[in-house]
Amino acid sequence: MTFFMTVIIRDISVRKRLEELARQQELKLIQANKMTALGTLVSGVAHEINNPNQMISLNAGLLAEAWHDAQDVLDAHYQDSGEFFLGGLPYSEMAQTVPVLIHDIKDGASRIERIVADLKNFARPKGADTRLLFSLNDVVERSLRLLGHLIARKTSQFHVELANALPLMSGEPQQIEQVIVNLIVNALEALPDSNHAVSVKTYADVETHTVNVEVCDQGVGIAPEHLAQLCDPFFTTKQTSGGTGLGLAITASLVQSHGGRLHFASTLGQGTTVNAIFPESSS
Ligand SMILES: Nc1ncnc2c1ncn2[C@@H]1O[C@H](COP(=O)(O)OP(=O)(O)OP(=O)(O)O)[C@@H](O)[C@H]1O
Ligand SMILES: [Mg+2]
Repeated sequence: MTFFMTVIIRDISVRKRLEELARQQELKLIQANKMTALGTLVSGVAHEINNPNQMISLNAGLLAEAWHDAQDVLDAHYQDSGEFFLGGLPYSEMAQTVPVLIHDIKDGASRIERIVADLKNFARPKGADTRLLFSLNDVVERSLRLLGHLIARKTSQFHVELANALPLMSGEPQQIEQVIVNLIVNALEALPDSNHAVSVKTYADVETHTVNVEVCDQGVGIAPEHLAQLCDPFFTTKQTSGGTGLGLAITASLVQSHGGRLHFASTLGQGTTVNAIFPESSS
């Protein structure tokens, strides 16, 4: 026996709401497609940049050795015949400068290498990788050990509060470590001086079955009009200090691939609190 049922939506407000929902879903889909396209583009670009960059890095090393060997000959020539010029600058000056220049080239290449690695990570298809059960507290502690030096340099007011008996979460602990590192680095970078505080805490929410990590800073804060853009790839207010604007884009995609979400609250001039909220493991 077959039943047919017809539902006529008379209530205009219901229809409006459904239309709005459909529109929102369409927007989400467009955004997801954009992100996929961007991912493909980015991994292509990262690959293209890697090869010439490796050559720069390798050649800079070779140049440093060649310069080291040549310097004996050049020094002897300088002793015999006095000042001469290299690239328009006096040798007495270039003898100090060239090693620094070569060192800077190497440094620049390593920086590019790091950015490319970040880009690849961002573009990597997310999904069923190796998922483990792990403790968020352990990952926070590992992140803090990793950042020990930076923390000590940036603030004398660093507080940590790890919840007892936190439920486990599941996923890739290394990725969560990257999330926590990115959030703490941002917090430290926002501080006007080392007397301002950064606190990190973990806690469980028994009602929502989530485990949370909160990074709170007394930094410069975020302008309300920037809040919506924070996780956009390449959004940065740190152009002058070399920010790439990829930190939060990567963070957000890692959090999302763990079924979690980020929550930002900020008051300009007072500080920022970021929560990364993850579902507790069901097993
Ligand atoms: N805790 C914070 N306090 C103030 N501003 C923040 C904070 N966290 C993020 N922001 C703002 O969000 C922007 C984007 O952050 P994101 O981590 O993605 O990039 P970045 O820190 O600028 O560069 P990168 O992380 O690649 O070195 C920052 O430039 C900054 O303006
Ligand atoms: Mg950052």
